[in-house]
Amino acid sequence: MMDPYRRRLHRLVLGSATTAVALPPLRIALAGETIPLTARVGTARLAPAGHPETSIWGFDGTVPGPGIRTRQGSTVRRQFINQLPEPTSVHWHGIRLANNMDGVAGMTQPAVPPGDTFQYEFLVPDAGTFWYHSHNRSWEQVARGLYGPLIIEEAEQAPDVDGEYTLLLDDWRLTDDAQVAGGFGNLHDWSHAGRIGNWITVNGHSSWSEPTLNHGRYRLRLVNASNARVFRIGSRGMATHVMALDGMPLQVPEQHAQFTLAPGQRIDLLADIMAGSGGEAMLTSAERRGTYVLASFPVTGSVRARQLQAPVGLPPNPVPPLGKLADVRRIRLLMQGGAMGRLDGALLNGKMADRREMARAGKVWAFNGMADMPDAPLADIARGETVLLEMINSTAWPHAMHLHGHHFRRVGDNDNKQAPGPLRDTLLVNRNQTVTVAFVADNPGDWLVHCHMLEHAAGGMMTWLRVRS
Ligand code: C2O
Ligand code: CU
Repeated sequence: MMDPYRRRLHRLVLGSATTAVALPPLRIALAGETIPLTARVGTARLAPAGHPETSIWGFDGTVPGPGIRTRQGSTVRRQFINQLPEPTSVHWHGIRLANNMDGVAGMTQPAVPPGDTFQYEFLVPDAGTFWYHSHNRSWEQVARGLYGPLIIEEAEQAPDVDGEYTLLLDDWRLTDDAQVAGGFGNLHDWSHAGRIGNWITVNGHSSWSEPTLNHGRYRLRLVNASNARVFRIGSRGMATHVMALDGMPLQVPEQHAQFTLAPGQRIDLLADIMAGSGGEAMLTSAERRGTYVLASFPVTGSVRARQLQAPVGLPPNPVPPLGKLADVRRIRLLMQGGAMGRLDGALLNGKMADRREMARAGKVWAFNGMADMPDAPLADIARGETVLLEMINSTAWPHAMHLHGHHFRRVGDNDNKQAPGPLRDTLLVNRNQTVTVAFVADNPGDWLVHCHMLEHAAGGMMTWLRVRS
């Protein structure tokens, strides 16, 4: 195992090194054309020169996979080809799409076997920052690199910026020779925080950097693609306005200097560069051992004499409003188990299993006393019904709870009601916290609800909702 954590890879905040690296070129779809998207083995230079390249699994053999970018209201079409040694599928995280395109292997489609193909084709109703990733054995497949950015441009009123960068954050567990470490089924990881790595990359590089201009305004789209790491992000030399969370615009942008980004979550920032020409702005990551540079923005000149005014909000996406919540159905989801949890057993294959039997089956968590995907949905909901989902974290760990096919708003914290929060598709629920979210179930189909710490999901934190058509 490479140790200590990122010692050789991430300079401390005061360091400076700038090599510009860019995402693979975008492939823009011509009308009617179907572009292939191939899952295959590839190599990536995750570690700096002097270390070997890393063998990865990637879409089109790269990590991140190719940027997919289109206009709100248009159709994404990809001819997915599986050239991996095992079955896989593609999930389009956060897109409120038709259920049969959701890419959940074993639920919305069979996993695509090696050598086989699957045609993905779906409408994108919302503008924003999304991502795609494998949804079969994802705790291993995503960890090996099977993810990429999915950017939907505003149909109108895109903000005026001097540049735009998408940053996919990942946390790898690498060996001394910079290869993806094994041990994917390690129940110690599964029952604790998940597979926390020792090597952080942005867009597949250990030191990501792009030039900027003083007083320039940049749109930064951040995606946390790691299996389990929660990033605590800070900024220096820039004023950062939060424009959107999980693809959904805030009504009024909020200026913050720090953000939490849990696995699966996204954040859109407008960053106004305050650092002067010759200086450097940066995003940082606060870790136990100190603060590290996550992304560096060397300032190579000036674009205007003074800072721009605070931005106005992005145009809202067409998500149905919540309406009154007084008499709506409350669905309870009790999160149980894990290390230091008090779970003695859970239902497994329809039978009560004790901790030891659970562990033998790779289950260390449970939802409502069930450790595997239940045959029956957590709730059977009429299309258009508004529901409350009360998530009770009785474990000793935070969980990044993700709902497929919908975005929700937080309306309660422990026993306190609160004004509806921003739309999200993934929410961090802290230990011993109860969070209630509300959403209009307007998208028919069977939709997963799971922890996006991928080891937790595999270890028992997975269930589903049915929205009737
Ligand atoms: Cu980002 Cu069920 O997934
Ligand atoms: Cu979790």
